[in-house]
Amino acid sequence: MPACRACGQDNPEIARFCLACGAPLDAETSTREERRIVSVVFVDLVGFTARSEKLDPEDVQAILTPYHGTVRDELESFGGIVEKFVGDAVMAVFGAPTAHGDDPERAVRAALAVRDAVTALNVEQPELELRIRGAVNTGEAVVTLSARPALGEAMVAGDVVNTASRLQQHAPVGEILVGQGTYDATRGAIEYEPADSVTAKGKAAPIGAWRAVAPASATGERHLSSTPFVGRTREIDLLDATWERVERERRPHLITVLGAPGVGKSRLSAEFGERITARGGRVVRGRCLPYRERSAYGAFAMQVKELAGIFDSDDVDVGVGKLQVTAERLVAHEQAENVAGHLAILLGFQTKATAPDRDSLFQSVRVFIEAGARDEATAFVFEDIHWADSALLDLIELLAARLQDLPVLLLTLARPELLDARPTWGGGLLAYSALPLEPLAGADAAELALHLLGADTKAAHVAKAAEGNPLFIEQLAAVLSERGPEEADSLPTTIRGLVAARLDALPGAERDVILDASIVGRIFWLGALERITRSPDGLGQALAELERRDLIRHDAVSRIEGEEQWSFKHVLIRDVAYDLQPRARRREGHRHCAEFIEQSTPEVGEAGAALARHWRGAGEPEQAIKHFVAAAEEAERGWAKQLAVSLYKEAFDMTPPEDVERKRFLRQRLAVAQQAFYHVDDARLLGLGSSEPG
Ligand SMILES: Nc1ncnc2c1ncn2[C@@H]1O[C@H](COP(=O)(O)OP(=O)(O)OP(=O)(O)O)[C@@H](O)[C@H]1O
Ligand SMILES: [Mg+2]
Repeated sequence: MPACRACGQDNPEIARFCLACGAPLDAETSTREERRIVSVVFVDLVGFTARSEKLDPEDVQAILTPYHGTVRDELESFGGIVEKFVGDAVMAVFGAPTAHGDDPERAVRAALAVRDAVTALNVEQPELELRIRGAVNTGEAVVTLSARPALGEAMVAGDVVNTASRLQQHAPVGEILVGQGTYDATRGAIEYEPADSVTAKGKAAPIGAWRAVAPASATGERHLSSTPFVGRTREIDLLDATWERVERERRPHLITVLGAPGVGKSRLSAEFGERITARGGRVVRGRCLPYRERSAYGAFAMQVKELAGIFDSDDVDVGVGKLQVTAERLVAHEQAENVAGHLAILLGFQTKATAPDRDSLFQSVRVFIEAGARDEATAFVFEDIHWADSALLDLIELLAARLQDLPVLLLTLARPELLDARPTWGGGLLAYSALPLEPLAGADAAELALHLLGADTKAAHVAKAAEGNPLFIEQLAAVLSERGPEEADSLPTTIRGLVAARLDALPGAERDVILDASIVGRIFWLGALERITRSPDGLGQALAELERRDLIRHDAVSRIEGEEQWSFKHVLIRDVAYDLQPRARRREGHRHCAEFIEQSTPEVGEAGAALARHWRGAGEPEQAIKHFVAAAEEAERGWAKQLAVSLYKEAFDMTPPEDVERKRFLRQRLAVAQQAFYHVDDARLLGLGSSEPG
């Protein structure tokens, strides 16, 4: 089913224009490929081929149909795409064509759900005697975005698929094995046991394997680390002040903390929650879920359950009973039955209660909260409302508008995409504040990294590479301390996944532009972009939109005279956008950039190194080496000795070993530059001047 690149609408196979927005579903977009991190799930029936030989084809069909249906439903409910059924084997892909940000975790949860569903199927229909084995593997693959899995077209290709299939063949019956990439990305969320590594044909080293036992946390939940809480004094002060007003003056208030994944919304709310409890207030929490078990009012239902002391393990009768008791205790007797009945509907309990319309349901909620919070200052925390159903958003806004003279704080946490779904969120409310959460400031980020890594000299580097995002700091620090510095240079899968999800959520035109710009570099020029882009028409508007989203910014001063200059606000986004593109596309883009720079900067000067890198990216080593050397010489003249060393080194590394003459020449120059660099360094240490950064 082709999805429209402009608006995301799924269209029928025969459509040539999008049903929703009219954009052409043209051939050019239909052959696009990307390099993506995907998680591949394989599930196969054990011994079924042998069994089916003895069966009538109709019996085979009667077994396979419920099996295929169950497996497909489970995999799709976690956001996976079932790529193919080959007889009794199933392959599904998570993370393509769009990333969700937590695809490895979804893939393992889905595989475990398949395992459990097949067990349940066997209980229901013992004659099926289904036995499965499964595997999940995560890694980079080439993804054909236009492939139509429904028509049997392969969407992903790469070693990650073969390895997943190998792992699957070695899985114990009834078990799910996962590979290294999956294990690394999910071990916080899934319980694993080590398994024997798997030796596979054509592979030098055995493949590390783990046996997935069960999910270790609730869906969509992240265990908050126990590291000391750093920074955020301004935000805590603001929250404290709001709480004080809510409590003292009985003025209800709605606050929405907005911030990127991993920036620390949940942690901030947890710390603030403890402060409220310490001051004698009450905190009730509810979360919206990204997939499965979603219900319109799920987050609110969690809060009501907490207030009424209902456990998930309670059956409907017990739950409804507890609701009635609570309602009787809180609201006037004549209202109690009605309120309890309505809340039961919102909680998804199947009872005889009915509601004439939504307003009366909401009215009951209001009565319940008014009664419950009258004598006890309460913070209702709604986490992750970017995943909320619009009905829940309506309910929260209604409460914020109508509650009066009550010590109630509605604290909602959301990623910025909430505002795409609901641009007017909080609008028109008297007591509303938005609290945008930015990455940690430099010193706080460094403190967190230092805490995680000890007195490692890499701490500052980690804090910077993670751009102050505490989740990314934690993950980079974990890679660094477990694997050592070599591997730490490539981004962990989890970070790539989260950033890719952000890119994938962009409208098609903006996403194209940001991908193209990433080839030019962290800083890019309109002129260069015009040469690379596939859609020059909407360029200006797309850039303006990307700036509004705070992904890029327009630089006041340009390094190239007369050329509009922009830069990426987050290097991570630029890096992930770059990584998504296939080599051929990058090569072509780099060539355009190199030509652009050559034509717009007659004096190559400072641009020399950039030029060299673009020629290298374009697959033109001769040109690249020439420019690296020229840039190095330029740097030497300006006493930028360290830069000269690194540029000579790049030229040296690019020169093939058989070019003995040039290798020798470059080795010499490198040695001279190094000498000079150490000399400068010594001089500076002795306090003899030179302001060059060390
Ligand atoms: N100020 C901080 N000091 C120390 N650690 C922090 C801080 N903020 C966040 N962390 C840690 O960083 C990790 C990510 O934070 P958190 O889960 O709160 O992010 P989030 O914004 O809620 O992300 P998501 O949008 O994915 O829910 C957690 O392990 C958390 O403990
Ligand atoms: Mg969170």
